[in-house]
Amino acid sequence: MKRFENKVAVVTGAGSGIGYEIANQLVKEGASVIINDLDDNILNNAVQNISTFGNCTSIAGDAGNVKFIYEMIDFTVKKFGKIDMIVANAGITLFGSFLDFTEESFQKVMNLNLQGSFFLTQAFAKQIQKQQGGGQVLLMSSNIGYQAYPNLSAYAVTKAGIKMMARNLVAELSPLGIRINAIAPGATLTERTALEEENYDQVWGRITPLNQIGTPDDIAKTALFLLSDDSRHITGQTILVDGGWEATGILPKA
Ligand SMILES: NC(=O)c1ccc[n+]([C@@H]2O[C@H](COP(=O)([O-])OP(=O)(O)OC[C@H]3O[C@@H](n4cnc5c(N)ncnc54)[C@H](O)[C@@H]3O)[C@@H](O)[C@H]2O)c1
Repeated sequence: MKRFENKVAVVTGAGSGIGYEIANQLVKEGASVIINDLDDNILNNAVQNISTFGNCTSIAGDAGNVKFIYEMIDFTVKKFGKIDMIVANAGITLFGSFLDFTEESFQKVMNLNLQGSFFLTQAFAKQIQKQQGGGQVLLMSSNIGYQAYPNLSAYAVTKAGIKMMARNLVAELSPLGIRINAIAPGATLTERTALEEENYDQVWGRITPLNQIGTPDDIAKTALFLLSDDSRHITGQTILVDGGWEATGILPKA
């Protein structure tokens, strides 16, 4: 029996990067997974790849939009008859100096990272209330939610907020049988971060105590632990998966 047999999951921002790998591993371990991303092109490719291991469907839309979030949960329940877990993975990283940061950029980061995670959890919790039997929420924080980093102030605020979201909601979700946890990745090599910086793996590997950057597989393995019964007594926690970077707090240019 696979760990996620008969389980239904939604993963946002899963057309590529960390979300893709979480969805991929959930399907390999038996779950039926709905993957979300902005764009059908990127989703079609991902669904095709993941479906070779099991049941994967997609829904395109903005994971920060509350109306869409509710439609996504409805779509999932219509398709599979229920939902067991969500991974609020979609997040945007907007760099910019604090003094010049615009209202528009601020809203963009808040809308996806905080509003999206908050209302996806709300829509999921309402569905669990209806169907009973509990469930799991996994949020995506960041190392930057723990330590200061120049030109990422709005992003840092959202990622610290997500840690508190996981902690705070223990009070209202535990009675519904819902566990809620978060992962805080450190520097992790994805399609996006590879474009952010030449030699991304070397620049960030050098300042990471374990002397390597993270991979989507590192994050996905932790995600599956937190979504599975192996962590049945863990809720309200954020787990750093960062090779020790937060403990030393060294910046790449230092
Ligand atoms: N990669 C890292 O180093 C790192 C470090 C710390 C935290 N994180 C967090 O992990 C999560 C995933 O990171 P990643 O690097 O894989 O992300 P990414 O930037 O590569 O994005 C993954 C996918 O999300 C999609 N996406 C973007 N906006 C969306 C929206 N509004 N609605 C739906 N989908 C959308 C993108 O099209 C992309 O396919 C994010 O929340 C990010 O903040 C990543």
